[in-house]
This record gives sequence, structure tokens and C-alpha cells, in this order.
Amino acid sequence: MIKNIVIFASGEGSNTQKIIDYFRSSEKVNISLIVSNKASANVLNRAKNNTIPTLVLDRDLFYKGNTLIEELKSMQTDLIVLAGFLWMIPEQLIKAFPNKIINIHPSLLPKFGGKGMYGTNVHKAVIASNEKESGITIHIVNEQYDEGKIIAQHACSISENETAESLGEKIHKLEYEYFPKAIEFFLSEK
Ligand code: GRF
Repeated sequence: MIKNIVIFASGEGSNTQKIIDYFRSSEKVNISLIVSNKASANVLNRAKNNTIPTLVLDRDLFYKGNTLIEELKSMQTDLIVLAGFLWMIPEQLIKAFPNKIINIHPSLLPKFGGKGMYGTNVHKAVIASNEKESGITIHIVNEQYDEGKIIAQHACSISENETAESLGEKIHKLEYEYFPKAIEFFLSEK
């Protein structure tokens, strides 16, 4: 049976684009919805250009109601993919989809995870700590956010003159290459 994935993203959506492209003609995986917390997020344009339904979240409903959970259940959602989604996932959503929410984080967790560690902040912190390598982590989301079970990690080295920007580019390349494959693998195990 075809598996339905729902992507949550807050911004540009370049990872979402790679996931859309990867599964475009798949008979096993369907992207049924793209959810954002921000009406102006470019990821929503990407969804529309690919005729994928979209949903913009209302903060109160997201944290208080059950509407979203009911909607996701009624759509037979098999997996929720967080691809640069900046809001904390409420406990009731995690409970409603146990082991069915995965996130990508732009560092080698448990290093450089947790509060405030997103986007360029992560790369700046990595460089400031004189790390020799960084990378990406794809993990299951539990109540402790960046601490769920790790599904995949991929590393890259840090050059002497590395900047947060150049490291960000290396990390994006790893994400584009491995995130869609990790999603496919994770779904095939279910
Ligand atoms: C990615 O680097 C991801 O690791 C992080 O947010 C970024 C999203 O980038 N969680 P994009 O919106 O997919 O371009």
C-alpha cells in the first residue's frame, strides 16, 4: 500500500523540494500535505507548483486543539517529516504519531542540539568550538526534541577557513543527498 507522508516546514523548503523530486514518480510514497507555520514561507510556493495541498497552522489550534491530529489521521498519514520546521511539536501530536515523526538536524547530534540550535546558529557554534567535522542527523522526534532515536548520520569535514556559510552549503548537500533516502528506508522498515 502506498505510504502517505506529510511534510512540516517553516521556510525556504529546499529540502522539501528534494523530497518532492525524489518521490515524484514513486508508487510507494505519496506526499499528501505540506504544513507550515508561516503563510509567506517559500515552501508553500513549492507545494503549489507541485500541486500538493497545503495547510498554514494557527498557533493556538496547533498547541491546544485536536483538529490537526484528526485531520492527519483521517488522511491516513504514515509519517510526518520535519524539514526545517521551527515550532516545537506538541506532546499530543507526538503521542498520536509514536515513532512516526522524523526530523533532520544540521549537526552530528547529540552535539549542537537543543534550544536555539537551528540554522546558522548551529554552524557558528560548531566553528567556534574548533570541531574537525560536522554533519547531519535524521532522528525520530520524541518529547525531548533533538534527543530521539537516530536513524542516520552523515559527516563532512571542516576546512581551516570554514565559515558558517560555507559549512551550511556542505550540510545542505548532505541533506539533499541523504534525507529522501532515509525517509524511503525508514518507511520500508515499517
Ligand atoms: C535545513 O538545514 C535543516 O537541517 C534545518 O533547517 C534547514 C531547512 O532548510 N532543520 P530548507 O528550508 O529545507 O532550505
